[in-house]
Amino acid sequence: MDNPHLKQACYVSGQWISARSGATFPVTDPASGETIAAVPDCGAEETQAAIIAAERALPGWRALTAEQRSDCLIRLHDLMLGNLTTLAELLVCENGKPRAEAEGEIRYAAGFVRWFAAEGRRIYGETIPASHPDKRLLVTRQPVGVCALITPWNFPCAMLARKLAPALAAGCTVVAKPAEETPLSALALAALCEQAGIPGGVVNVVTSRAPEVVGGVLTASPVVRKLSFTGSTEVGELLMTQCAPTLKRLSLELGGSAPLIVFKDADLKKAVDGAMASKYRNCGQTCVASNRFLIHDSLVERFAAMVTSRSSQLQQGHGLKASTTIGPMISRSARDKVARLVSDAISKGATVWCGGPPTGSGLFVAPTVLTGITGEMDLWREEIFGPVVAIRSFWHEEDAVTLANATPYGLAAYFFTEDLARSWRVSEALDFGMVGVNTGMMSTPQAPFGGVKRSGIGREGSRHGLDEYLELKYTCIAL
Ligand code: SIN
Repeated sequence: MDNPHLKQACYVSGQWISARSGATFPVTDPASGETIAAVPDCGAEETQAAIIAAERALPGWRALTAEQRSDCLIRLHDLMLGNLTTLAELLVCENGKPRAEAEGEIRYAAGFVRWFAAEGRRIYGETIPASHPDKRLLVTRQPVGVCALITPWNFPCAMLARKLAPALAAGCTVVAKPAEETPLSALALAALCEQAGIPGGVVNVVTSRAPEVVGGVLTASPVVRKLSFTGSTEVGELLMTQCAPTLKRLSLELGGSAPLIVFKDADLKKAVDGAMASKYRNCGQTCVASNRFLIHDSLVERFAAMVTSRSSQLQQGHGLKASTTIGPMISRSARDKVARLVSDAISKGATVWCGGPPTGSGLFVAPTVLTGITGEMDLWREEIFGPVVAIRSFWHEEDAVTLANATPYGLAAYFFTEDLARSWRVSEALDFGMVGVNTGMMSTPQAPFGGVKRSGIGREGSRHGLDEYLELKYTCIAL
């Protein structure tokens, strides 16, 4: 592949290295099935070297002024936007999303870098009135230390930027492990960190197709003081267990099963726009994708017809083709899961409005709209992570809220209504970390992203995202 950002080496202690064994693993374009690169298949030794590099770099990085660290991040931001087109092309080739979405992701990622460059200059402390006249009580905020960042394949650039930028702004150093499906964007970002003048060892990126080995070393290390992970709930729970003996700080952005409710008084056009945005972004492979559509019974036919018409217009193809508006699934197992869920729903009585179980040999899944969904169907209980609109009807507001909350997950929820009182009432009743009212797209660097229940712990983005990388220190001065 010909791309100026293509790096086929890991970045440790400011050096571009191979695995000690010389082993590599291939990176595949999910749209074409072609191998586009080979990156080092690192193991315990390289991970340990990266941890040591981050530990050594920590005193120098945390000693810089907030302004100096912010300047580095601003340079990184400018480099990201200056290379937007080629970074997006790299992302398309390893992830499969259409070019416009990839460019949107680079802007989104750069937005986090810019946000935290500014926010890092506002790491304020506090003074507390003491109960004794000769004492002064101070609270300062200090970097957590070395952080492990484990990132997913669905937003290979943005999810790393959302962790990396606050960590660096706070004065932490990092070891990042990108998903094995999409390591190239992370390596490209590391190269831009180097160009931005961030000292060697502050940012380390280790690639591996043995995530359990790298994760095992990162979680076991007493040097690593925090783990931030985005990915499945099952892996998040495992990492949390592994972090327990060293009591690390944790940020976990895990699975979701977002309800999208359309009430009788909704503006249907707005609801369909919101459904399209939240469902088909990244071919339905987002944690915040609407998974369970709850549509007022009187609107089901119209809503399904409108979404079907819009879904049928989506153009599948390689993300670099100008006409493409929806890409492939990331992997065979992701495609097969969607096939299983759709087949199960049809076998239990769902009506197919468009699409259906994938039949071809590639990783493409046609946008699919199903009505007549019931709680017995697997896709109502599992995270679909694919381009399937699964519609269930309801009559009463309380039933919609009860059904929406009947999930172990609690990341995002969406609903559509023109009734102001209902918008407050339902928003407060929904047991989710993020609620979109009359919108299907709410992610933005300045807002706290994160979930409750089995969707995770902590928040990313916003001023709260910086706190995840800071420890409070209380100092009591006796005069
Ligand atoms: C995710 O799906 O993991 C992230 C989506 C977002 O940031 O909007």
